[in-house]
Amino acid sequence: MAQEVRGVIAPGKDEPVRVETIVVPDPGPGEAVVQVQACGVCHTDLHYKQGGINDDFPFLLGHEAAGVVEAVGDGVSDVVPGDFVILNWRAVCGQCRACLRGRPWYCFATHNATQKMTLTDGTELSPALGIGAFAEKTLVAAGQCTKVDPTVAPQVAGLLGCGVMAGIGAAINTGNVGRGDTVAVIGCGGVGDAAIAGSRLAGAAKIIAVDIDDRKLETARSMGATHTVNSRQTDPVEAIRELTGGFGADVVIEAVGRPETYKQAFYARDLAGTVVLVGVPTPEMKLELPLLDVFGRGGSLKSSWYGDCLPSRDFPMLIDLHLQGRLDLGAFVTETIELTDVEKAFERMHHGDVLRSVVML
Ligand SMILES: NC(=O)c1ccc[n+]([C@@H]2O[C@H](COP(=O)([O-])OP(=O)(O)OC[C@H]3O[C@@H](n4cnc5c(N)ncnc54)[C@H](O)[C@@H]3O)[C@@H](O)[C@H]2O)c1
Ligand SMILES: [Zn+2]
Ligand SMILES: [Zn+2]
Repeated sequence: MAQEVRGVIAPGKDEPVRVETIVVPDPGPGEAVVQVQACGVCHTDLHYKQGGINDDFPFLLGHEAAGVVEAVGDGVSDVVPGDFVILNWRAVCGQCRACLRGRPWYCFATHNATQKMTLTDGTELSPALGIGAFAEKTLVAAGQCTKVDPTVAPQVAGLLGCGVMAGIGAAINTGNVGRGDTVAVIGCGGVGDAAIAGSRLAGAAKIIAVDIDDRKLETARSMGATHTVNSRQTDPVEAIRELTGGFGADVVIEAVGRPETYKQAFYARDLAGTVVLVGVPTPEMKLELPLLDVFGRGGSLKSSWYGDCLPSRDFPMLIDLHLQGRLDLGAFVTETIELTDVEKAFERMHHGDVLRSVVML
C-alpha cells in the first residue's frame, strides 16, 4: 500500500519551495523505501529549483541523506529492513562500457527507482539526483542504499551522499593526492573544505586554501589547511608559487566552477602537476588558454564527478575513519533545521553563511 508523507518540492522555475504531501509507492522489484533521518542542503538542490539542471518540474528536492531501510522489493538482497544506510546517486549497473572495463565509478547507466513518487493528485515528481530525500520517506533503487556503521549520527553520515564525498574524492580519488604532496584548493565551501580534509587524510605536506571570504578561510584552517590566501587581496597564483618554492602545487583542486578560478588552478600547479575541476560550471561559461601552455606544462587536467567515488567502497571506509576520530565530518554541519526551513537555508547558503544546513526528519 502506498504511503503519504511530507516532502519539499520545487513547484516551478524560481518559485519558492514548499512542503507537500507525497505519495510513496511500495517498493517494486529492485527498489527500497527508506525512512529518511537527515538530509543536507546542497548547492545542486538550489540549481534544480532555479531550473539550472532541467525543466522536469515539480522536483522532490534533497539528495544528501541517511536513514533506515523500511521495506524492500523482490530480488533485493544487499539491504534488509532496519539497515542504516547513506543514499547514493551512483548505483552502478555492472554492465555499461565503464563497468565492463573495471571503472565502475564512471558508470554511465546508474540505477534509480522505476516507479514514480507523486503528489496526491497523481502529478509525477522528479526526485533530485534520483533520490528526493527532503521527505519523511523516499523510494530509491536498492543499489542507492549503502550500509554503514549505524553508530554514526545521521546528520553527519548523510553528508557523504554528495558534497563531502565529492570533495574528499576529488582529492584522494581523482587527484590521487598522496603523502608529501603539496595541494591547493580554490573555493572553500563544503566541497573545497572536504577536499582539504581529504588531502590531510592522504598525508599532503602542505595544503593551501584559497577563497575570497575570510570566514571561509578560517574554517578551511580547522579542516586542515596549512596556509590560506584571500584571492580578493592577493594574486593566488603568485601566492601559491611562493608557498611552494616558486614551483606551484602538485595538485590544485578547483571547487568553484568558474573560468577565472580554473585558470588560477591551471597556472598555480607545478610542471607535470594535476588540476582537478570539481566545481560545476554553467552552460554559458567558456575557457581560453594558450595551447602551448596546455602542452608545455604537461601533467593532467581532470574533472571529478562525485569525487570518482564508489559508494560501496568509500562510504563505509570514510564513516569508519570518522568514528575513529581521523576525519571530522561533524565540522561540516553548521546547523540542523526543519523540513519547513529549506527556503531559508538556500538564502543562508547564497550568502555564504553555512557549510551545510541539514534537515532532520
Ligand atoms: N563534481 C561534483 O560531483 C560536485 C558535487 C557537489 C557539488 N559540486 C559543486 O562544487 C562547487 C562548490 O560547492 P559548495 O557546496 O562547496 O558551494 P559553496 O557555495 O558552499 O562554496 C563555494 C566557495 O567558493 C568561494 N568562491 C566564490 N567565488 C570565488 C572566487 N572567485 N575565488 C575563490 N573562491 C571563490 C565562496 O566564497 C565559497 O566559499 C559547486 O559548483 C557545486 O555545484 C560538485
Ligand atoms: Zn555501469
Ligand atoms: Zn549535491
